[in-house]
Amino acid sequence: MTDRYCVFGNPIAHSKSPTIHTLFAASTQQDLSYEALLAPLDGFADAVCDFVAAGGRGANVTVPFKEEAYRLCNRLSQRAERAGAVNTLVFDGNEIFGDNTDGAGLVRDITCNLGFSLAGKRVLLLGAGGAARGVILPLLAGQPASLFIANRSPEKAEALASLFAGSVTVDGGNVAKISGKSFDLVINATSASLSGASISMPAGVFAPGSLAYDMRYGQGDTPFMAQARSQGAAQCADGLGMLVEQAAEAFMLWRGVRPETPIVLAGLRAQLAV
Ligand code: ATR
Repeated sequence: MTDRYCVFGNPIAHSKSPTIHTLFAASTQQDLSYEALLAPLDGFADAVCDFVAAGGRGANVTVPFKEEAYRLCNRLSQRAERAGAVNTLVFDGNEIFGDNTDGAGLVRDITCNLGFSLAGKRVLLLGAGGAARGVILPLLAGQPASLFIANRSPEKAEALASLFAGSVTVDGGNVAKISGKSFDLVINATSASLSGASISMPAGVFAPGSLAYDMRYGQGDTPFMAQARSQGAAQCADGLGMLVEQAAEAFMLWRGVRPETPIVLAGLRAQLAV
């Protein structure tokens, strides 16, 4: 019997997850199907129940349902608990287990695909919404020297920083607070580009050799990457690798086997270019 998986979102037609997981399944010889399902904005829980009743084994969850998925689970991984959001569900009898693979996907892309070690680095995270919160715990696990969370609304960044205070120095506020400071890694987790807005970053924010990472992606450089390049970032990357790596983490959770990601990433990159 072919095992069924899906991704829930609204909208969902644009999702690359079916392509990614179908390629993973073929390369690891796993007998599964993976489809994109549009859940009504007020009907996420019902959509999940229907999918489980129809024999679904697991699901990914994307915008705008990650927080609702978190509340729906009766067991959570530590990283999902701390993220306050779930992007991967595993169905087992009456149990709905929730995990969040976004941060692990980001860290894997940065460290494995881009060859950039987090250890001892000064990290700046731009944004304090759901996307930012989802990646903080795995970022801190990489043992950076420090993490600063900068946000347009500083109180949200301060609240997040206090939530994750621990062995690594974590601070938060608005960008004015980092004036004169530079960072080795700057990650854009804001949704500014969706409205065509640019993000204000103080001069000198990019240290020599720094990496600018945009969690968004598109055809060619994203607006953040272009801005980062002009402000002196040594290396820039978009979030396509994160998308593929978070999917690989989910696939591993479901199937117990880690798929190869470089060939899938290269295929998606080629598709984006046309
Ligand atoms: P997501 O789930 O994508 O993180 P979100 O929770 O709505 O979405 O968070 C969006 C983030 O992008 C927030 O940090 C938001 O800043 P505010 O908290 O001040 O609203 C940030 N953001 C959105 N538009 C922005 C802009 N034009 N400039 C700077 N930050 C922006």
